[in-house]
Amino acid sequence: MTMRVGVLTGGGDAPGLNAAICGLARRLLAANAELVGFADGWRGLIDDAARPLQHADFQHLLVYGGTLLGSSGDNPYRDPATMVPKVLATIARHRLDALVAIGGEGTLGAADRLFTEHQVPVVGVPKTIDNDLDATDFTFGFFSAVEVATRAMDDLRSTAESHGRVMVVECMGRHAGWITAYAGVAAGAEAVLVPERPVHLEELCQNLARLRQAGSRSAIVAVAEGARLHEDGKCLSSMDKDEFGEFKTGGAAATIAKRVQARLGWEARPVVLGHLQRAGKPIAFDRIFALRLGARAARLVLERRFGYMSAMRSGEIVDVPLRAAVAARKTLTDQFLDRYESFFMPIGGP
Ligand code: F6P
Repeated sequence: MTMRVGVLTGGGDAPGLNAAICGLARRLLAANAELVGFADGWRGLIDDAARPLQHADFQHLLVYGGTLLGSSGDNPYRDPATMVPKVLATIARHRLDALVAIGGEGTLGAADRLFTEHQVPVVGVPKTIDNDLDATDFTFGFFSAVEVATRAMDDLRSTAESHGRVMVVECMGRHAGWITAYAGVAAGAEAVLVPERPVHLEELCQNLARLRQAGSRSAIVAVAEGARLHEDGKCLSSMDKDEFGEFKTGGAAATIAKRVQARLGWEARPVVLGHLQRAGKPIAFDRIFALRLGARAARLVLERRFGYMSAMRSGEIVDVPLRAAVAARKTLTDQFLDRYESFFMPIGGP
């Protein structure tokens, strides 16, 4: 019997999403399965916005950023009493034998609950540029984002040096500093500020002052949007949450630049990389990585092994229970922070 498989992409987009859809679709269509694409993440199942996906849809898809299906952060568990029944009805209406959810913590968390609470036959594929899912070594899109951030910091060097300025470069990452850490270290930033370590602005300014006294004309400070800034013993960062329960971020670079300039008289400018980190084509690694994760998810579907997702473990593509993906957030380890101590600790030593 022909299998009917639904697919959705949820949460913030990540370069490689289309490649993951491609990897999934190629293997499923080769096995004569029918594929139904849902629009805008879980929203497509709540509203029943669907369309059949054919070979022609995937022909040139692999190389492009974004997602063919559209995405949103919506989630049936935002209002389970009304939304979960709608999702279940859509699944029944389309006679789906399986549903593949490609997403991060929120999207996969909903998939896991639908599997455990309603026996929905789900398979997951992990994605987030933030790289903060615990069950996989890396998520696709992360290294593409790191590449954007690294190049931006490299490029900012020349203008920082021309004008004798501090450039404070804000990277994405609400809870985890992976992008900031990889890009900051790769670009040789003078300070790398991540959510995993509190940032004391007095200390940062002292260190920058020391750097300047030692003859530096310019400096690059890499800061994660979720970095917790402290001044005079008080936390300056907002603890407000948005409609999806996420911390509202933004403004870290502006706050730091303002304080550095005021305290040191050293001209400082904020640069927010924002959605540029999710934009554009995925780098080759992410295309191949995503393609493989998608293909592995197709295999799980064809073997009817539900409640699992594809993942990378010790460099191999494997499958792990969906529950593992949402059990813990992967933040920068002490080992990582210690290995690059000089970037995260006071510049030029204590
Ligand atoms: O989860 C990925 C992420 O890129 C975060 O780093 C960032 O804070 C967030 O998405 C921004 O998403 P939005 O598209 O809703 O602004």
